[in-house]
Amino acid sequence: MRLQLITICLGAASAVPLITSTPPVPSTLNLTAIGAANGESTLECWRLDPLVSSSTPGTAGALALFLGGMANATYTVLPPRFDGGLHNAPALQLVLFSTGLIHITLPNCTEEAWIQGGKYGLIIAADTPDKSAHGHRTEYPGNAATIGLQVPLKNGTKLKHGLLHGGPCTEDEITGF
Ligand SMILES: *[C@@H]1O[C@H](CO)[C@@H](O)[C@H](O)[C@H]1NC(C)=O
Ligand SMILES: *[C@@H]1O[C@H](CO)[C@@H](O)[C@H](O)[C@H]1NC(C)=O
Ligand SMILES: *[C@@H]1O[C@H](CO)[C@@H](O)[C@H](O)[C@H]1NC(C)=O
Ligand SMILES: *[C@@H]1O[C@H](CO)[C@@H](O)[C@H](O)[C@H]1NC(C)=O
Repeated sequence: MRLQLITICLGAASAVPLITSTPPVPSTLNLTAIGAANGESTLECWRLDPLVSSSTPGTAGALALFLGGMANATYTVLPPRFDGGLHNAPALQLVLFSTGLIHITLPNCTEEAWIQGGKYGLIIAADTPDKSAHGHRTEYPGNAATIGLQVPLKNGTKLKHGLLHGGPCTEDEITGF
C-alpha cells in the first residue's frame, strides 16, 4: 500500500478575512546610540526618519525605513559573561542584537546602557577612533550567549537622525510599536 500525500494549491484562494483592528502606528524609529562629543564617547537617544508604508513586494503596506547602503556584515556569537573591554566602534555601524544581554559603560562616567537582545536590540555605534579617545566598554553579563549582527554603513551613507536626548533611549521610547 502506498501512502500518498496530496497537496492542493488553488491558484485563486478564497478570501482570507482581514484583521481589521489597526495596530498603533509608530512615527519614528528611536534607538540608543554610542556617540561622541568633545573627544569622548557618549550615550544618546537618536530618532531616525519616520517609517513609511513599504511598496516592496513581500512587505508592501508594512512600515519600513530605508537605512541606506551598508558596507559588509558580521555575525558574532559572544559567550556568556564575556567582557569586550574598552574599545571604539571600528566604523560607524548598526548592531542588531538578536538575543542576549548587553551592558555598555563609558570610562570615567556613571552613564550606562542595558540592551536586551531581541525585537528592540538595534543600536548604533558611532564613536570611531577619530571621534573618541577612549571609546566605550561592552560587557555581556548574561548566562547565555549574545548574538549580534554588526553592519557598518558604506562610506558616504548618511544616517539622518535627530538627537532626542543624552543618555540611552528609555524602554517607552523604543517600544512604541
Ligand atoms: C567592512 O566595512 C567597514 C566600513 O567601510 C570597513 O572599515 C571594514 O574594513 C570592512 N571589513 C571587511 C572585512 O571588509
Ligand atoms: C579617568 O580619570 C582618571 C583620573 O582623573 C584619569 O587618570 C584617566 O586617564 C581617565 N581615564 C579615561 C579613560 O578617561
Ligand atoms: C571614506 O570617504 C572619505 C572622504 O571621502 C575618505 O577620506 C576615506 O578614505 C574613505 N574611506 C574608505 C574606507 O573608503
Ligand atoms: C520616538 O520618540 C518620539 C519622541 O519622544 C516619540 O514621539 C515616538 O513615539 C517614539 N517612537 C517610538 C516607536 O516609540
